[in-house]
Amino acid sequence: MPDPIAVNSMFGRIARRYDLANRLLSGGMDLWWRRRLVGAVMRDAPQTIVDLATGSGDVAFALARRFPPDTQIVGMDFCQPMLDEAELKKTVAGAGCFTNITFRHGDGLALPLPAEYCDALTISFGLRNLAERARGLREMHRVLRPGGRLFVLEFSQPQAWFRPLYFFYLRRILPFVAGAVTGDRAAYVYLNETIEQFPGKNALSEEIRAAGFRSVNAIGMTFGIVALHEAVK
Ligand SMILES: C[S@@+](CC[C@H](N)C(=O)[O-])C[C@H]1O[C@@H](n2cnc3c(N)ncnc32)[C@H](O)[C@@H]1O
Repeated sequence: MPDPIAVNSMFGRIARRYDLANRLLSGGMDLWWRRRLVGAVMRDAPQTIVDLATGSGDVAFALARRFPPDTQIVGMDFCQPMLDEAELKKTVAGAGCFTNITFRHGDGLALPLPAEYCDALTISFGLRNLAERARGLREMHRVLRPGGRLFVLEFSQPQAWFRPLYFFYLRRILPFVAGAVTGDRAAYVYLNETIEQFPGKNALSEEIRAAGFRSVNAIGMTFGIVALHEAVK
């Protein structure tokens, strides 16, 4: 499992270029993956949403654009430079925009939130980075109200035929492109390793069940390289 101090410092280093790197490295597909996530969250019309490991806030902003303005959205992350980027985007959008989003510092392994706080919790490309996944999932379960929904958007294990091409991209191309964009190739070597080691849909569904969730459902996207897991407390 990743070392939290190294993860925090790594995201701190790449925070300024994080959005640009995402767009380039995914060929813009990350926008579509997050749109699918937001569409799934909308089905239940939650009033209070926590976006954990919010980073530069893309999911929080995408949720705010689609939900009524009285929906409360908390974007939480343990890396202050990433939260600073999110706050900057909110400021650039202008006073009076995104007033229902609050960005807060918090560790996913010990969330500074009361039990049964939210109706929905999203975590997008964040679960892979938690130092203790089982503990993080139990925390997410704790802060959701009974009947509330968890949404995990994360890299997954691709379909067998696509693996050689995908792993060639991850190992040989991505670190060089990312290094040129962010100036930090090492960060993206770490990214490859966490992607390659991350469980596939079935194994992750089991972990989510083990944390106390029921009705776990997973949808693969883009040849299975990304999956959206949904579960109910
Ligand atoms: C790959 S970024 C994802 C950002 C955003 N959710 C997105 O979709 O672009 C992963 C984020 O997880 C955060 N993170 C990692 N471990 C964390 C923890 N224990 N608590 C809170 N945030 C954490 C990092 O600081 C980073 O901002």
